[in-house]
Amino acid sequence: MSGLFDPVPFGGLTLPNRLVMSPMGRGRTTADGTPLPVMAEYYAQRAAAGLVISEATHPSPVAVGHAHSVRLHTAEQARAWAEVVDAVHRAGGRMYLQIMHAGRISHPDLHGETPVAPSAVQADGTARVFRGKPGYPMPRPMTADDIAATIEDFTRCARKATDIGFDGVEIHGANGYLLHQFLSSVTNVRDDEYGGDAKGRIRFAVEVARAVATEVGPERTGIRLSPGFPLNDMAEPDRAEVYPVLLDGLDELGLGHVHFVAGSDLGLVHELSRRWQRTVVVNAGTGPLDTDATLGAADRALADGAHLLSFGRQFLANPDLPERLRTRASLNAWNPRFFYEGGSQGYTDYPALAASAAG
Ligand SMILES: Cc1cc2nc3c(=O)[nH]c(=O)nc-3n(C[C@H](O)[C@H](O)[C@H](O)COP(=O)(O)O)c2cc1C
Repeated sequence: MSGLFDPVPFGGLTLPNRLVMSPMGRGRTTADGTPLPVMAEYYAQRAAAGLVISEATHPSPVAVGHAHSVRLHTAEQARAWAEVVDAVHRAGGRMYLQIMHAGRISHPDLHGETPVAPSAVQADGTARVFRGKPGYPMPRPMTADDIAATIEDFTRCARKATDIGFDGVEIHGANGYLLHQFLSSVTNVRDDEYGGDAKGRIRFAVEVARAVATEVGPERTGIRLSPGFPLNDMAEPDRAEVYPVLLDGLDELGLGHVHFVAGSDLGLVHELSRRWQRTVVVNAGTGPLDTDATLGAADRALADGAHLLSFGRQFLANPDLPERLRTRASLNAWNPRFFYEGGSQGYTDYPALAASAAG
């Protein structure tokens, strides 16, 4: 086997295994995006992951993209998050905060403002607001002041996160949200220094990463990317030119990790993984409820250049996923009905092995 269950150094920590809990928004918050107490229980149950990465967390109100997605910009939100991180640490785990601005994948119902984006290019699709599913509106192109303020919001959020005990942060540069929108020639048609060729379109992502890394340390800062992933109405016709330039820009900053999303352009992910000097994290499981198939996929990803493997839905439904994979036990199935709502149902009630055997 590949050392999947051996300790590995990462960001000044020693991870007990190479399995990462992939970030997953679960919507267990108050209406203003403050974590509910049940979040501490949920994440602590999954503390056996080598690393837990939190769900996408918004650094300001206008960054919010979905009803009930979680935030970290007020003192109350920081207090509630501190309980989550403490619970994970008490359970023996390590946890990063994922920071996300949704850009055009948003709606005024969520924060009272016109969503912002690199350019006035409307997304096809419907927003998840508190009531109904309205279409995404036309976003407002960001001014230079908006850009500076947004970089400041990411930085302040990262500082708050590490102040309350998070072991590091992951910047969300994937899945069609704001940073990703800046990278694409379809969603970014700006004619200033943040648009145009690859060098212009990567500028915003690199500036966010530089500011965050300067604030909390590059080794504790990572970024999630999804080259070629069409989620949220994205298209990246010239991604093969853009991402190598982006990776070189991020590499120069000494960022600790880059995390690739399943569904990305796999050939490009392999090329980029070879290019990256430090830790590469890859979504490896992507679904099978079969332990051998999952371990096989994990081994292939390691052979293709990954150092850590992230699992989303398998961790969602199996709080003790590392133990199940190590012992080749069966896996619980997930229930999508409770992905984004449902209190403790479909959230903290997935049984661990001992509990399944007993009951
Ligand atoms: C309920 C749910 C919420 C998700 N929320 C996020 C998120 O907040 N941030 C993120 O980067 N990816 C998010 N994802 C994507 C996962 O991190 C992961 O990339 C995806 O589920 C594929 O991996 P899997 O096959 O192991 O589940 C989410 C996925 C699910 C199922």
